[in-house]
Amino acid sequence: MSLASPRAGTIDIRHLHKQYDVKGQPLQVLQDINLSIRPGEFISIVGSSGCGKSTLLRLLIGLETQHEGELLQDNEPIRGTSLERGIVFQEHRLFPWLTVADNVALGLLNAPGAQADKDRSVQEHIALVGLKGFEKAYPYQLSGGMSQRVAIARALVNRPEVLLLDEPFGALDALTRTHLQQELQRIVQAEGITAVLVTHDVEEAVYLGDRIVVMQPRPGRIKRIVDVALPRPRDRHSAAFHAIKDDVLGEFSHEHAEPSPQALAA
Ligand SMILES: Nc1ncnc2c1ncn2[C@@H]1O[C@H](COP(=O)(O)OP(=O)(O)O)[C@@H](O)[C@H]1O
Ligand SMILES: [Mg+2]
Repeated sequence: MSLASPRAGTIDIRHLHKQYDVKGQPLQVLQDINLSIRPGEFISIVGSSGCGKSTLLRLLIGLETQHEGELLQDNEPIRGTSLERGIVFQEHRLFPWLTVADNVALGLLNAPGAQADKDRSVQEHIALVGLKGFEKAYPYQLSGGMSQRVAIARALVNRPEVLLLDEPFGALDALTRTHLQQELQRIVQAEGITAVLVTHDVEEAVYLGDRIVVMQPRPGRIKRIVDVALPRPRDRHSAAFHAIKDDVLGEFSHEHAEPSPQALAA
């Protein structure tokens, strides 16, 4: 299996619109999304719940195919799921009856290539996520953080050009989350892969992103794109880090929270 070529992993989103039919009524979920992502770039997406972040990732991974506008990877339209794109969800979605190694190997189920190469890639990616020695463990023997490491290994085992992550650390405790953010940054750099991370943790977005896409709801659209020109690994305590974090948080300050039950009843 060859290493990803250094120029691949471009994503182009052009005039993307997405509607769902809800009880016969059209619901505009994404409105005129435009974004070009460079190979190896790390994009963080933040926005309040319901603004279409998961829908955008489902379109990028190819699980959802109905849309208007263009969605390209390396100048080819995204028409369905592909071995060129891996995804990690908030829930690890490991199979409880399979070992760590067998769960990771599932990422190669539809891939061509010799079994010996696949076995080697499984071993390499288990080591890459820091789980050497846990190959034969079962999911119930793992912590939440370790399970997400397995999910990341499974998403990367086929050496995709693009890694998509939908709130991957949202269910983890703060310490584990911080540690996995450092790990993810190391892994993404080691693989030279393009990454798109959806998160509602603004600090996580600043720590990991080359750019932060701030979305706003009803309909979901891009409000602003913030550059994060800080050297890596980033110092969360630096004044420059805090300035960017405050800038992004400021984008939410005018946004009203979800209506409260009282407000709805009024
Ligand atoms: N399959 C679907 N059918 C109808 N509406 C949907 C579907 N999936 C998502 N939606 C709606 O689209 C909007 C955006 O959802 P989602 O992409 O999950 O937002 P986010 O991930 O930002 O919270 C929400 O209003 C949600 O109810
Ligand atoms: Mg979501």
